Amino acid sequence: MDSELDLFDSLHPASKGLAQQANHHLLSGVPMPWMVRWPGRFPIFFQHAEGASFIDVDGHRYVDFCLGDTGAMTGHGLPQVAEALHARALSGITTMLPSDDSVWVAEELTRRFGLTKWQFAMTATDANRFVLRFSRHLTRRPKIAVIDWCYHGTVDETLAVLDNEGNVVPRPGALGPAFNPRDTTVVVPFNDLNALDAALANGDVACLLMEPALTNIGIVLPDPGYLDGVREITRKHGVLLIIDETHTICAGPGGCTTAWNLEPDIFVIGKPIAGGMPAAVYGMSDEVASRLEKEMAMDDVDVSGVGGTLTGNALAMAAIRATLSTTLLESDYERMIPMATKWTTGVREAYTSRGFDWHVQQLGCRAEYWFCPPPRNGRDAANSIDHELDAYLHLFYINRGILMTPFHNMALMSPAHTDSDVEYHTKIFNEALDSLGSN
Ligand SMILES: Cc1ncc(COP(=O)(O)O)c(C=O)c1O
Repeated sequence: MDSELDLFDSLHPASKGLAQQANHHLLSGVPMPWMVRWPGRFPIFFQHAEGASFIDVDGHRYVDFCLGDTGAMTGHGLPQVAEALHARALSGITTMLPSDDSVWVAEELTRRFGLTKWQFAMTATDANRFVLRFSRHLTRRPKIAVIDWCYHGTVDETLAVLDNEGNVVPRPGALGPAFNPRDTTVVVPFNDLNALDAALANGDVACLLMEPALTNIGIVLPDPGYLDGVREITRKHGVLLIIDETHTICAGPGGCTTAWNLEPDIFVIGKPIAGGMPAAVYGMSDEVASRLEKEMAMDDVDVSGVGGTLTGNALAMAAIRATLSTTLLESDYERMIPMATKWTTGVREAYTSRGFDWHVQQLGCRAEYWFCPPPRNGRDAANSIDHELDAYLHLFYINRGILMTPFHNMALMSPAHTDSDVEYHTKIFNEALDSLGSN
């Protein structure tokens, strides 16, 4: 680790200079908290990102498997999005009036994901915040349910986990919790239908917010039949099912919802849908929409706690339209998914040939490896994390021109990745394992 840290320093003098300067007026030297968690003694500063790669201020090129943690899953710097943004910016961004792009976008969202009516938000965090509010309002129930070790953005009610005794407690690391989440939130383990049934039986839960496969504590896939069971149990208890596909859009152009025939009452997606511009959407079934439309006529809907002045702005709409009309299409996934399979195969061959008891998991164009057998729930996944080994491997990759998603050993493919990008990762992964010595 020491020699990789020294190599990192010597390779990145320009980033180091900027990092020293940044320390004067940026809190911890970074624009937002989790950027301190990049491995190395300072973050690398990027200069130019295009397609599946970027160049840092020291002139090094990186293959980007992080892709802005899915925000740039379409590839960086899409010309069609840039052109749409330019044209829209010149003809007005924010008027509080709808633009025609919103009509096209809503039709496209229905075609892809199947839900009937749509609304917009600035980020997936916001969208989740709004749908929780709608759910409590519609059901007149005070609590929400989430999966243990989920992540749905910086939404207070969702920053909760189960402790060793099964109590709901604030998620480790959550700063200044607004309230004790045990008063607002029911937390259930993934892949455990009995626990879900018991947790919802009280009749005080408005909705279950979940990813169809966990992606934020590594990839944890649903057991066969689990998601059918979730739908049955939520219906039985009158609990709205909210599926958050912000990351699982890696499964295909319609996310897991279309790929696996899910039937959510409410659907959320953010990150990649606007080609990297901040924008998110949430959709709802006919039934939910017709119940909610009554509330939209309130005189005081502006203080309903949903939306914001800049939400649904014309720039975001133009970016979503330019993105969804040209990318994240079936033909893109036909390139991306086989590349993720190739990445997975390369990783598996490398660790099995050395006798490491590791595991690699793929979901569409996303793949991730673990230093243990595959976990079935978030808790097992969290317990298996090895921060030191993660940091070492990430640094090893960065020093050789590869960026992986931070906090995970996860790679995401964009339509711009090539076979040689994947082969390069396999080569460097093998070198990294060699540097660890034998098992
Ligand atoms: C499943 C899921 N939902 C919501 C979010 C929040 O997205 P954002 O940070 O863009 O608001 C994330 C972020 O990682 C996520 O993974």
